[in-house]
Amino acid sequence: MNIKLIIIKLLILIPTLILATTAASSDLEKGRNIYQKNCQMCHGHDGKNTMATAANFKRGKGLFQSDSALLERIKKGDKACPGYLGILKEQQIFDVIAYIRTLYK
Ligand code: HEC
Repeated sequence: MNIKLIIIKLLILIPTLILATTAASSDLEKGRNIYQKNCQMCHGHDGKNTMATAANFKRGKGLFQSDSALLERIKKGDKACPGYLGILKEQQIFDVIAYIRTLYK
């Protein structure tokens, strides 16, 4: 097998594995609800940001990091993005992370 084919296969396999592992431990339906109540007003119903400076999840902005990095980021907040520590439980943040990953198209 040539190296290009191996790289292409890895590029397909890695996101599939990430999706498979988050789907197993998170609840997408709950994630969608949490997103609609807490995040949608800036990040848009389909992930296309309505607030100019907010990350565009539809384009994958901010999503190329691990679940644990995203967890810390969402707990802490940054600039106009509020911190959700004490507002959302850890499991709820994992649910919303699983959901925002589905918005990347
Ligand atoms: C008041 C508007 C607002 C709300 C509500 C909001 N965000 Fe954000 N979000 C932003 C802005 C603005 C940025 C860009 C911040 C920056 O430049 O660091 C951002 C960036 C992000 C990023 C990208 C981080 C990175 O490392 O690039 C993630 C992930 C994120 N928000 C998740 C969420 C989640 C999940 C929620 C709901 C639980 C949420 N945000 C609610 C405004 C908001």
